Amino acid sequence: ARDESGDTTDPTEYLEQHEVDDDDSFMTSDVGGPMEDQFSLKAGARGPTLLEDFIFRQKIQHFDHERVPERAVHARGAGAHGVFTSYADWSNITAASFLGAAGKETPIFLRFSTVAGSRGSPDTVRDVHGFALRLYTDEGNFDIVGNNIPVFFIQDAIRFPDLIHAVKPRPDNEIPQAATAHDSAWDYFSSQPSTMHTLFWAMAGYGIPRSFRHVDGFGVHTFRFVTDEGKSRLIKWHFKTQQGKASFVWEEAQVLAGKNVDAHRHDLFEAIENGNYPEWEVCVQIVEEEDALKYGFDLLDPTKIIPEEYAPLQPLGKFKLTQNPTNYFAETEQIMFQPGHIVRGVDFTEDPLLQGRIFSYLDTQLNRHGGPNFEQLPINMPRSSIHNNNRDGAGQMFIHKNIRHYSPSALSGGFPMQANQSSGRGFFTAPGRTTEGSLNRLLSATFDDHWSQPRLFYNSLTTVEQQFLINAMRFEASMIQSPKVRQNVVTQVNRISNDIACRLADALGLEHPEPEDTYYHDNTTEGLSILANKLPTA
Ligand code: HEM
Repeated sequence: ARDESGDTTDPTEYLEQHEVDDDDSFMTSDVGGPMEDQFSLKAGARGPTLLEDFIFRQKIQHFDHERVPERAVHARGAGAHGVFTSYADWSNITAASFLGAAGKETPIFLRFSTVAGSRGSPDTVRDVHGFALRLYTDEGNFDIVGNNIPVFFIQDAIRFPDLIHAVKPRPDNEIPQAATAHDSAWDYFSSQPSTMHTLFWAMAGYGIPRSFRHVDGFGVHTFRFVTDEGKSRLIKWHFKTQQGKASFVWEEAQVLAGKNVDAHRHDLFEAIENGNYPEWEVCVQIVEEEDALKYGFDLLDPTKIIPEEYAPLQPLGKFKLTQNPTNYFAETEQIMFQPGHIVRGVDFTEDPLLQGRIFSYLDTQLNRHGGPNFEQLPINMPRSSIHNNNRDGAGQMFIHKNIRHYSPSALSGGFPMQANQSSGRGFFTAPGRTTEGSLNRLLSATFDDHWSQPRLFYNSLTTVEQQFLINAMRFEASMIQSPKVRQNVVTQVNRISNDIACRLADALGLEHPEPEDTYYHDNTTEGLSILANKLPTA
C-alpha cells in the first residue's frame, strides 16, 4: 500500500485483502459445503433435534464463542484509520523512519476510550480518556498508548491493580465507583496523594470532553529520541486537536449519558462519514538527558508535566482520521496496542510506570486473544514484512517454509540475517543509557512532591474553569458515605490549596482546615518543588 516514495494515501488498502462480503453468494458451512441454516435436523415432524446435526452445532457453537474478554481497562472505545504526515526530515533528533522526510506519509489507527467503564458503559461519564495511536511505519508498528490527560495517578506500575480495583465496580453490588464517586475511589485517591494531579485534571473539563475530536492526546511518560549517531534526548509526546479543545459542562454530560450513551462514538463516526476529517498536530517537548532533574521534579515521574515555558512544543507533523472501520470487532476491538511497540529511533525511559506497562499489555493480550499469534490479525499486521524464528501456537496464520527455523545455522544460508548485518538499520537502545545502585523497593525521593503541580494546574485555569472543578469535586465528594474518607479528601486537597479545601469543606459540612505551610509553594522555576534544594542542579 505504498507508492514509490514510500507514501501511503489509503490507510486501509492493506486490510482490503482480508475483507469478505456475501453479495451474490449462497450459504456454505465453515468448511465450504452448501447448506441451509434455518431449521435444525429432527427425527420426525415434532423432533427431537439430532446430535448429528453438524450445521446446527457449527452455527450455535460459533455464536457461543463470539465474545472475547473485554479489555481489563479502557474497554469502552471507538477508533478510526488515518494518515500521519511528517513536516520535515527530523533525523537531527530521531532515527525514526516515519519522521525521516518532509511530506512522508504513514498509515495510522487511533482508538479513543474511557478507562473504568465496561464495553457497554455510557460515553460521557467523567473519566480519563485513552488516546492510543498506532503508526504502521515502514520499519514496523509504533504505538503511543496515551491519554487525554498528560499525567497519571500513580508512579509505580505495581500499584495499577489497586488503582483499578478502587475505581471499577464494587465487588458486592457491581456499582461503578469512579463515575459516581463512591467511597472506594475517593478512599484510594485521598490515601494515595500521587493521584491528586490527575484527579484535578479529571475534575476539570478534561474528564468530560465534548467529543473525541475535541481532546488533546499525551504520551504521558518521558520517552527518548535517539539519532543514528546514538545521541539521545528526553521527549514528551503531545497531540494537539485542530478542532479546538472543548468540554461539556457537567449537566450536559449527565443528560447525554441518559439520552445517548453512544454520544462520543456517534460523533466520531458521523464526522468521518461526512468527510469532516478530524486532525491533530503531533508535537514533542525535548529536553537534554542531563536536564532530567533540572526543573525541580523528576522527568521520570509520570505525575508531572513539563511546563511549556521550560520546554516549548516542537511540531513534527500532523495526522488526520479519514476512514471508519469496516468491522468494529476486527479492527477497533482486535487492535492490540502496546507501549512496548517501539521503533528504531525511539527508546523507553526508566519511568517505573512505563517499565511495568511494557509487560502488562503483552500479558493481558495473550489472555484477550488466547495465544501468542495476535500480531497476525489483519489490524495488527505491520506493513513491513516479518522474518524471524517465532513458530506455531494457537491461530498460526503463516505457512513457514524454512526448515532451519533457528539461528545461527550453517545450513540456512544465514537467513534471515540480523538486521544490523544486512541493512545497518538494526533496532538499538540508546547507547547513553546507564544504570547503577543497589536493589530496592522504593520510589526515588525525587518523586515525592505531589502537591505543587495540581496547584500549578489549578492556578492555570480561568476563574470559570476553577469553579467547574470545584463544583465537580463538591458534587463527587458529597456522595462519599464515610466521614473518614470525606475528612481525608479535605486534608489531602488542603495540601494543594487551603482555598479549595475550605470550599470543599463547606459542601461536606466539615470545619475549615488550617493552611499547611509545608506544602505550599509558588509555581516558579525555583519554587516549583519543595525538593528543589535536594536535587542536583544542571
Ligand atoms: C489499556 C493508557 C497505565 C494496563 C490502555 C489503553 C490506553 C491506556 C489508552 C487502551 C488501549 C486501547 O485502546 O486498546 C494508559 C496510560 C497509562 C496507563 C496513558 C499511564 C501513563 C497502565 C499501567 C498498566 C496498564 C501502569 C499496568 C501495569 C493496561 C491494560 C490495558 C490498558 C492491561 C488493556 C490492554 C488490552 O487489553 O489491550 N491503557 N495506561 N496501563 N492498560 Fe493502560
